[in-house]
Amino acid sequence: MKRDIISVRDLESDLDQILSMALDLKSGKLKKENALKGKTLAMIFEKPSTRTRVSFEVGMAQLGGHALYLSPRDLQIGRGETIADTAKVLSRYVDAIMYRAFSHEMMIELARNATVPVINGLDDLEHPCQIVADLLTVKEKKGKLKGIKMAYVGDGNNVCNSLLLGAAIVGMDFVAACPDGYKPNEKIVADAISIAKRNKCISMVISDPHDAVKNADVVYTDVWTSMGQEKEAEEREKVFAPYQINSKLLANAKDDCIVMHCLPAHRGHEITDEVIDGDQSVVFDQAENRLHAQQAILLRVIR
Ligand code: CP
Ligand code: NVA
Repeated sequence: MKRDIISVRDLESDLDQILSMALDLKSGKLKKENALKGKTLAMIFEKPSTRTRVSFEVGMAQLGGHALYLSPRDLQIGRGETIADTAKVLSRYVDAIMYRAFSHEMMIELARNATVPVINGLDDLEHPCQIVADLLTVKEKKGKLKGIKMAYVGDGNNVCNSLLLGAAIVGMDFVAACPDGYKPNEKIVADAISIAKRNKCISMVISDPHDAVKNADVVYTDVWTSMGQEKEAEEREKVFAPYQINSKLLANAKDDCIVMHCLPAHRGHEITDEVIDGDQSVVFDQAENRLHAQQAILLRVIR
């Protein structure tokens, strides 16, 4: 049976193994050469991307395979061919499809119709590949995941939703501080709380950023306006102003707290230059880890 990675939930059974594999790929313990020789990944991008595109493309090349960048402008999707027909056709040529979509429904529709594995490269609900890289980064920097407290401050968006699930699965305490009206997806919050209960860790959504970062080992933020929400940008700037990660807010966290951001960052908005360029920031190691994490994912799903 094919294996899709649409949600972090799809990683629940083997997230630990994927993280170990990513570490081994990074250290060179696990050889990359020819691991996916002759395999092709189709990548459909409805939205822009720097990290996801380049890390998947380079990742496939290093594994001996090949990646195809496809934009809806160039595909017949742009002229009205359905995503279902596109999925069926691509499945006859390629070994897996990575899709960055505006809507989660379209992601599901593509996965339902593809006969090859589908990997979510971000949609409006989740960003699972990002979270594998994030957990890898915390594991590297802190030596463990259980017993670590991550505070997420800002918009309850796709990244926040996936972090909620990822943290609960690995047993990491997670507190998100998001303003009312911008809380994460309710179903995901409920699922994360129930997984966290099983794994004896905390999963919580609150409103006060100062409370959230208290005693945190990791402080994480993302943009206030995600791709596709540009019309709301002005309103969001006002609502999120008290949620900026700056030195004052960070002073509430542990002294050795690390700062994470999935990037791209809007400097001076959700995070100050001082913090993102400061000693506690690990954002570029985190970005590098997209490559190692995704290679582990590709090796798990492509046969
Ligand atoms: N973090 C992330 O997914 O970045 P890109 O939008 O550049 O792919
Ligand atoms: N939440 C952001 C993440 C970008 C990688 C967005 O969806 O635009």
